[in-house]
Amino acid sequence: MTNNFAVLGLQWGDEGKGKIVNFLSDRANAACRYQGGHNAGHTLIINGEKIVLHLLPSSICHEKALSLIGKGVVISCDALFEEIEKIEPIAKNIHERLKISPACSLIQPYHILVDQLKEKSNSFNTIGTTLRGIGPAYEDKVARRAIRIIDTLSESKLEDKLKENISYYNFWLENYFGHTKLDFQKIKDENLHYGEKLTPLLADVSSLINGLNDQGKRVLFEGAQGALLDVDQGTYPFVTSSNCSPAGIASGAGIGPLDVGYILGVVKAYVTRVGEGPMPTEIHDSIGAEIATKGGEVGATTGRPRRCGWFDAVTVKRIIKSNSVSALCLTKIDVLDFLDTIKICVGYDFKNGSGDYAECMDLVDVEPKYIECKGWQTSLKGINEFDLLPPEAKAFVKKIEEVCELPVDVISTGPDDHGTIVLNEEI
Ligand code: GDP
Ligand code: IMO
Ligand code: MG
Repeated sequence: MTNNFAVLGLQWGDEGKGKIVNFLSDRANAACRYQGGHNAGHTLIINGEKIVLHLLPSSICHEKALSLIGKGVVISCDALFEEIEKIEPIAKNIHERLKISPACSLIQPYHILVDQLKEKSNSFNTIGTTLRGIGPAYEDKVARRAIRIIDTLSESKLEDKLKENISYYNFWLENYFGHTKLDFQKIKDENLHYGEKLTPLLADVSSLINGLNDQGKRVLFEGAQGALLDVDQGTYPFVTSSNCSPAGIASGAGIGPLDVGYILGVVKAYVTRVGEGPMPTEIHDSIGAEIATKGGEVGATTGRPRRCGWFDAVTVKRIIKSNSVSALCLTKIDVLDFLDTIKICVGYDFKNGSGDYAECMDLVDVEPKYIECKGWQTSLKGINEFDLLPPEAKAFVKKIEEVCELPVDVISTGPDDHGTIVLNEEI
């Protein structure tokens, strides 16, 4: 048994994972991103400065922690090195502390191009992706033709694999999208260049984690996106292309499923969603707009407005039950300060027999059933002790525990570390 732990989102992303991972990083010897790519946008506030990370683990500013990127992550080298350069002045010894698996698949320029062309085309479902090439990169991985970091270390191997990929993509680009051909030489040169740059950062992340655990050290696994965007467990097809639920940790980091440890599921006190797809509790009136304004609900990666809705305990409970989630972290509770009544969805009326197919997560033919909680109408911002919360806020937290059938171990009342209440000191 290990004492590892995981922090990941149980909704449609942007639950506040970055803040919580940064806050808890002191309790870990290493933090590991294990899926997704630079579609993620994780916000941390360090010494009053706002930092948005896309690929690097949110522990990166903690000098004592190793930062790991496991093989389940798809890497854009442009984005990675841009991020490293930006964070270097405040993340000391980053080149010694950052370790990346050579088994990671690389996002290529043609992945970004195809993502963009598909999203623009009338022949495909518009998903509202981040246009970062994430879906096409994972498609190549599953199709067993991905260029992995290791492939960039040998010119002949890279050339063979890239030739195969480029002829495949050129056929598709020219004949389906009427697009010009890709420049093989340019793409090859870029890959070789990045292979060289990546070499000093490469490590067998899976063995590294096992080695740390053998020494009794703790690893924190940081999820990107949220379980409702998981390709198998989310609102398919309006999902991302990886397993962002706890099920993805073991395969993405390269560890045994029993070594994941304690799983902290981060949920916002309401829900948000960026892009297309069903959201049964979406609020279409001025309350939704006010939550969005007060919560600063604008995408950290794309700057798109986030749709807002009431807390949906039905979807969260389904994810909890099917993913061995240990406890909840309830974030952004302060955003609801202004409300006199707060709704929680505790059930669905399934129409047209759709309940029989609930596992498909279509969530189209459902009518949410709500309970109402009394609002507190006073500022919670920055409160860091449970006892200092007003009775209505305490009752709201208890209600979330009751309807989700899981303890709330952490509460977040503001974007920086100060506004954090830890109710289980064993984390
Ligand atoms: P992530 O993708 O899950 O890391 O979340 P994002 O960083 O995309 O979005 C969360 C936003 O809410 C960021 O702007 C955070 O600074 C902010 N935030 C995090 N926790 C809290 C909180 O408890 N209260 C408030 N008001 N803001 C928070
Ligand atoms: P973090 O880690 C919120 C959404 C996109 C789109 C869908 C597919 O910050 O919580 P993709 O580019 O992944 O193929 O897009 O997934 N999406 C996110 N939404 N937070 C994220 O990450 C997201 N990453 C992807 O908006 O609906
Ligand atoms: Mg985000």
